[in-house]
Amino acid sequence: MSAAPSFGQAGTGAAKAYFGRRYMLSASHRLHAGSLSDEENRNVYGKCNNPHGHGHNYTIEVLTRGPVDAATGMVVNLADLDLAVETNVIERFDHTHLNNDPLFANRVPTTENLCRAVYELLTGALPAVELEHVRVEETENNFFQYSGQ
Ligand code: NI
Repeated sequence: MSAAPSFGQAGTGAAKAYFGRRYMLSASHRLHAGSLSDEENRNVYGKCNNPHGHGHNYTIEVLTRGPVDAATGMVVNLADLDLAVETNVIERFDHTHLNNDPLFANRVPTTENLCRAVYELLTGALPAVELEHVRVEETENNFFQYSGQ
């Protein structure tokens, strides 16, 4: 008779793991910096400076980190994470023009800054789990990531 395999015995404290989930967000933006002239804006942002803006179907990836709960075997409850992201991020930005959001009153709504905004909105809003990073895919070729620093 062999002993049952065990794991998680090494070290002290609970084993940590990561859990990531993806969300879809459709929004429009116009890249225009208030600190630059109209000509400079056109030179820096090109067609993304078009006064009418343009839209993206963003994929928002939220990566969480925490101890694996001894009872549930999970880092975070999926339903709790979904609720936090839906109420703090998706409902706020989905099908909106990002330039109109107060968070972008003094920040150009580039996807770098959208990434930061999502991270800041979720910091402290997640259910008993740490936020490792937020990654936003803007197109199939472009992605951005922010870890709070
Ligand atoms: Ni764009």
